[in-house]
Amino acid sequence: MNTAITNSDPQPMIRVNAVSKSFGSNQVLRDISFDVNEGEVVVLIGPSGSGKSTLLRCINFLEEFQSGQILVDGEAVGYSQTGPGGRGRQTESSIAHLRTKAGMVFQNYNLFPHKTAIENVMMGPILVNKESKAAARAHAVELLEKVGLGDRANHFPSQLSGGQQQRVAIARALAMRPKVMLFDEVTSALDPELVDEVLKTLRDLSKEGMTMIIVTHEMQFAKDVADRLLFFYQGAIIEDGPPADVFANPKTDRFRAFVKRFQGAPLN
Ligand SMILES: Nc1ncnc2c1ncn2[C@@H]1O[C@H](COP(=O)(O)OP(=O)(O)OP(=O)(O)O)[C@@H](O)[C@H]1O
Ligand SMILES: [Mg+2]
Repeated sequence: MNTAITNSDPQPMIRVNAVSKSFGSNQVLRDISFDVNEGEVVVLIGPSGSGKSTLLRCINFLEEFQSGQILVDGEAVGYSQTGPGGRGRQTESSIAHLRTKAGMVFQNYNLFPHKTAIENVMMGPILVNKESKAAARAHAVELLEKVGLGDRANHFPSQLSGGQQQRVAIARALAMRPKVMLFDEVTSALDPELVDEVLKTLRDLSKEGMTMIIVTHEMQFAKDVADRLLFFYQGAIIEDGPPADVFANPKTDRFRAFVKRFQGAPLN
């Protein structure tokens, strides 16, 4: 197979190229490379401490990284590749602009408690994207409907369930009109009966063609929705492929052991 990059290849929506990152002497990402094409859903799984959150945080430049490059929608993340020395930190306005391209949702949704659901969704577009209040409101109504919360627009976070709050957080991230979405264990803090409603929102986004990287321990979801599964172990990717292939023919015992611990069942 010819894997050379030619001009006819589409530009990946996310390119992670030889990224390494350490916290002091603790190297947590080891030469990580992968591309995510437009509309693709990549699921990251791996043991605690393997570097999944750190990688997502690097893609949004919430963390600095010492070597390698990350491109989102063709734009370098965090560091300019030109100039003296070849690697300078970008200006804060470039970094802020990049963050509007990659929406991120965490385990703890951190909505503003004294703002209603719709106000939470409208704030970023008004303050950062300088949208008019009317335009931001119209978009927020649309997004709350999309996540199944059209009738909860004027509720405060304390009046919503954890699953509903997490869906508001997803709508809030979508309101910035991101090109990609990054999800870090968005169902981990939820009561089991609330997990499915949030996963449904992610499935719907995937059907609409949103490019996503999702860190999750939900194996069935990974099998159903991911185009590609990456298994992290000690800061390196040790399995990479369509989930059906990786689950059916894992290359490593690490992956077998990990899956067994999570579902206590055969791999396929
Ligand atoms: N701010 C930080 N300062 C120092 N070390 C950190 C920091 N954040 C993460 N680490 C270390 O980096 C490593 C990877 O952490 P990371 O949070 O990326 O793992 P993870 O795969 O997301 O784990 P989990 O499944 O528990 O969320 C761990 O050894 C962690 O202790
Ligand atoms: Mg994590």
